[in-house]
Amino acid sequence: MSARGVSRIDPKPSRLTTLSPSFPTPAASALITAKTLAARAPHALPSSSDTDFPCSLLLFQGRNQTHRPSVVATMTTIGFIGSGYIGSAVARLAVAAGYDVVVSNSRGPETLKSLVDELGPSARAATAVEAATAGDIVVVSVPFKAHTQLPVAELAGKVVLDTNNYYPQRDGNFEALDSKQTTSAQIEQEHLAGAKVVKVFNNINFKHLASLARPAGSPERSALPIAGDDDPAKKTTTEFLNALGYDAVDIGPLSESWRQEPGQPVYGPPYGAFEDPTGTPAGAATIRDAIAAAQR
Ligand SMILES: NC(=O)c1ccc[n+]([C@@H]2O[C@H](COP(=O)([O-])OP(=O)(O)OC[C@H]3O[C@@H](n4cnc5c(N)ncnc54)[C@H](OP(=O)(O)O)[C@@H]3O)[C@@H](O)[C@H]2O)c1
Repeated sequence: MSARGVSRIDPKPSRLTTLSPSFPTPAASALITAKTLAARAPHALPSSSDTDFPCSLLLFQGRNQTHRPSVVATMTTIGFIGSGYIGSAVARLAVAAGYDVVVSNSRGPETLKSLVDELGPSARAATAVEAATAGDIVVVSVPFKAHTQLPVAELAGKVVLDTNNYYPQRDGNFEALDSKQTTSAQIEQEHLAGAKVVKVFNNINFKHLASLARPAGSPERSALPIAGDDDPAKKTTTEFLNALGYDAVDIGPLSESWRQEPGQPVYGPPYGAFEDPTGTPAGAATIRDAIAAAQR
């Protein structure tokens, strides 16, 4: 239980390997990237006239639904600062969607070998500074207290996806957060001068993030709230989520991101009980209702 008397959505399983049965995710196994498809069956690729999208990478819903591009991703590198439960879950979805990923942690690239081996040739490990430099989009997924160690210069100008939650029992007390004067995402944005911080992925646990990804148009498509001060960055985030298998619900600027912080209705429950690894799809209407019900 957190200091606010709410259950954490990110209780740690005893071993990282407990992730393994969840992967590949239903969405990941259903999505075949154009790269993979080209290698396996080049004849199955559509010509450019089969799509309105000028982008370089198409994703398909599976062998039974070839020639139905569901999601389009541009060729983009995703950097990860923090590659634990939530960072690695996003990385898996990103690789399944055709992105290149650069993962990092606090201990050094050599400690990420098993993750890189699992992710395959689209992935490499690096230092946090290198991941920040390489990423067109950078996912920051560290304990909130570690935000002061994020590389400011290398993240300037970048879209930074902030998955972090403030848990006093883990992070220590931050008076401005305890008194609700600000939000953890605003504090991170202040630290990362020049970066475009978008709060996302913080309200869903890593198991459900993996299991609930669905192609665009699926009736079981779930949505994630996003908050940020930069509209183009939120557009980029929305496109990224779309490629990963989620809709986005824009809840406004970072000052509104308290609505998706721990203890609020959108934090966890819409996606089902933590103990149920399958999760429950939660569409945009459900997420909007939960955001509207937030109380500070
Ligand atoms: N777990 C969930 O389901 C979940 C869901 C939503 C949001 N969140 C939030 O997302 C964040 C990450 O959660 P998590 O569960 O993924 O945590 P985690 O499994 O403990 O992973 C944390 C990651 O951050 C890295 N790290 C820590 N300090 C760092 C630093 N100074 N520089 C670079 N990397 C650093 C760690 O590296 P080392 O291992 O090398 O120390 C590790 O890779 C937290 O704020 C959490 O509250 C978690």
